Formats: sequence, structure tokens, C-alpha cells
Amino acid sequence: MSQEQTPLFSGLLAHAKKNPIQFHIPGHKKGAGMDTEFRQFIGDNALSIDLINIGPLDDLHQPKGMIKQAQDLAAEAFGADRTFFSVQGTSGAIIAMIMAVCGPDDKIIVPRNVHKSIMSAIVFSGAIPVFIHPEIDKDLGISHGITTDSVEKALKQHPDAKAILVINPTYFGISADLKKIVEIAHSYHVPVLVDEAHGVHIHFHDQLPLSAMQAGADMAATSVHKLGGSMTQSSILNVREGLVSAKHVQSILSMLTTTSTSYLLLASLDVARKQLATKGKELIDKTIKLSQSIRKRLNEIDHIHCVGEEILGSKATFDYDPTKLIISVKDLGLTGYEVEKWLREKHNIEVELSDLYNILCIVSLGDTEVEADLLVTALKELAIECEHRVGQIEPIEVLLPEIPVLALTPRDAFYAETEIVPLEESEGRIIAEFVMVYPPGIPIFIPGEIITKDNLHYIRKNLEAGLPVQGPEDDEMKTIHVIKEYKAIQ
Ligand SMILES: Cc1ncc(COP(=O)(O)O)c(C=O)c1O
Repeated sequence: MSQEQTPLFSGLLAHAKKNPIQFHIPGHKKGAGMDTEFRQFIGDNALSIDLINIGPLDDLHQPKGMIKQAQDLAAEAFGADRTFFSVQGTSGAIIAMIMAVCGPDDKIIVPRNVHKSIMSAIVFSGAIPVFIHPEIDKDLGISHGITTDSVEKALKQHPDAKAILVINPTYFGISADLKKIVEIAHSYHVPVLVDEAHGVHIHFHDQLPLSAMQAGADMAATSVHKLGGSMTQSSILNVREGLVSAKHVQSILSMLTTTSTSYLLLASLDVARKQLATKGKELIDKTIKLSQSIRKRLNEIDHIHCVGEEILGSKATFDYDPTKLIISVKDLGLTGYEVEKWLREKHNIEVELSDLYNILCIVSLGDTEVEADLLVTALKELAIECEHRVGQIEPIEVLLPEIPVLALTPRDAFYAETEIVPLEESEGRIIAEFVMVYPPGIPIFIPGEIITKDNLHYIRKNLEAGLPVQGPEDDEMKTIHVIKEYKAIQ
């Protein structure tokens, strides 16, 4: 089959065209049994292919027909031995990827600044995380990736690790020397799993960091929906055979996946793959040019800094994705969150995320000069509004959370007997819940860590700035679950 073909989408269309009498779920029956307003809004086309795994339409759990063909084409496009479609986002693919290589008490080497799905997988599998400290950017107040030196050190100390996980690129678009990391890990026969949530497009353009499969990694969970043009929640899991078994990955993925897989999501993966494989280079070329021109214009605005290639050169900042605009706003005397709100209220602009010091804007295949102009004009206006007070701003001291000490495995802490204490009085206790700011969803605390004063201060600062701190059962963050009994780590 050629990359121009879309076996899954075309197969669904052919099926819908036959207009079969449906005595099967979904019970809305091509929209006829659905709320009229929603039906009219969504449209009959979409509803006609909102189908289920009946005979002619193959089955994601054991694909032999059109889903298999679509996955095979994706594997070819992404340079993988096997590609599996996920209708549960990259979170679902990540959990499957980790559970496919780690069982209870197996070690997995992970950077501490990982997405919560990785920590969830560690709790579910009972694996023991060996943390690598990511490189911290004190100027921007963000964490980058891990260095080759730290990978070498971790593997020397833990050659029995079942896997090493790398985030490539990070949410902010920074990547490590993944090829070297793979070489080091493979010299220990340890597979490399990549969280490629923010890098579906990098495989299709040589000016972008190397993709997981290009770097020789063993598995990669990749959000096609984030930057590759498919629908929200649709992702892929790419596998290279050898250190991992694709068959085993498939059975774990199947255990974790709904039996009612959405064919709209699956079809959108099929067409996104076609677009990336056949027109990706050209579309991404335009996207890179557009983002570089926005970057240049933003850097002409006083007190605003949009990060560019000057960030490269450290061992953790080996390469970067220019389509991510990290815009540092601390010199305006505002938090990223205040700028996010200002852009929303004054200009109807929504950013990808904000933190205490930055906003992150993502430029993708769907953007044009029109959106670019609106963002630049809005930020120019904001800089002028802030002008009168800029001279009086005390230099902002960038605050970054300490990485707490892990006293219990996350799983033991999660299932331990707990008690509830006021957050303000929890210093020194072992936490039994996750605490994170979402987005980006990187935990400030994971179950099993010892609560420190610095981290409580960091949580307070984020709450005061209005940032979405979440995780604990008490969503007002006044109380927290901590371990009732202390237990020494083995
Ligand atoms: C670094 C990282 N990994 C994984 C994920 C999970 O991806 P998904 O939202 O597709 O489940 C995210 C989502 O924001 C992320 O930022």
C-alpha cells in the first residue's frame, strides 16, 4: 500500500455509504437517537462513521484488516517495526509501554520531571523509579531533559534496570542527545522508552530534533493529536523489536484499552499519518518559518524574551524545536498566568500553558500569519502597558521546586494506610497523593516523597498566582493525605 492511501478512513466511508441497518451499538444509530441540537452541530457525516468493531470494520484489539493496514502504514511512516493506535491518548500508550517492560520491584530509570501518566504506570506496575535529576534552567524556571552523563551514571549504578525513560522533546521543545542516550543504554542491554508526546512532527523534518525511532529507541508514545493533525485523544505507540516484544506490548495495550474504541479517533490517526508522510515536510517547513518570524518579532519587543537557539549548548539542551515559543515575561513584572489571563480577556487568545515566569505558545500546521500578527500585536500592547513600572521591578528570583527525597516506592505509598493533615503542617511527612500543576502535569510531589518546606512554599506560590495546582482529593489544597506509618525503603 502507498502512503497516499487511508485504508481505515476509506474502509469506514465505504461501509457508511452502504448505509447498513444497524442492530448494534452505538445506540444513537447514525445520530437518529441523539439529541437534535448536538446531532446537527456534529453533523451526519461524523456520526455515520462513529461505529464499533463489527466484523467488516476490524478490531483494534486483534487487528487483521483495515486497522492492521493503517497501523502498518503508520509503522512505515514513523520508521517503526510496529505501530499501535491508542484511543486513550499518549497517557494510555505510556502506561502500556512501561507495563510492558516493568513488573513489581523492577527498576526503571526516569527523569523526575515526568508527566503524571509515567508515575501512574509506576504505581500500577509496582516498579521502583530510579530518578535522574533533569537539568534546571534557572533563568526560565523550567526543567530540561537529562544528560548523557547522568544516564551513564544511573546505568552504572543500576545495570539491572528494566528500562530507561526519556522525554524527547520536553513540553517546551528541548531535546537531549537521544542517539547517544540510546547507545549508552543499549550497551547495557537496557531498552529506551521515549515520551514523545510533544514530538510527532519531528520525524518528518530534518531541521527538528531526531525522533525516537530515528535515534534507535525501542518504544515511543507519541501524541499525534497534539501536533500531528489527528483528533484529541488519538496517539500512537511505536515499537522497535529486539529488546522488547511487540506481541507483548500489544497484549498489555489491549488489557488497558476500552473495548469500545472510537473509529472517529482511529480514522483521524490514519489521515494524519497520510498528511505527515506525504506533505509533512512542506507543511512543517512553513510552520518552522512562521515560528521563527514570530520569535524574531517578539524579541524586538522590550522586556519580552522568546527563547531561541541560544538555549542550546548544555548537555541537556542538545537540540530544540523552534515551533514551540517559550516566552519569558518575568521582566514585565507579571507572572505567566497573569499574561495568559490578559491575553484571554483582552485579545481572545488562548496559550498552551503558563507558569510563574513564562507562557508557552505552540505554532503548528494549522497556523498562519494572521494568528502570528495577533499574538505579536497583543504582546506589544502589553509591553507598552507595563512600560511605566518596568524600571521599578525588583529582579524576579526564579523559584524551582526541590526534588524531594523518595522514602517509599510510589506504589507502597499509594496503598499505605494514610491520614489527613493540614497542608501547612505536613512538612517532614511522607505524602500519599500526587500534587502537580496542570498543564504541564509534572508532579511537584509523587506518593512516597518526603514533604519539604521549599516545596510547600512552591505550591503556595503557584496557588497565589492562580495556577491550576491539582492532584489531591482536597481540591482546595487545604489538607493532604500522608502516610500513617513509616516504613523504611528496602
Ligand atoms: C510530556 C507529556 N507526556 C505525556 C502526556 C500525555 O499525553 P496525552 O494528553 O496525549 O495523554 C503529556 C500531555 O500533556 C505530556 O505533556
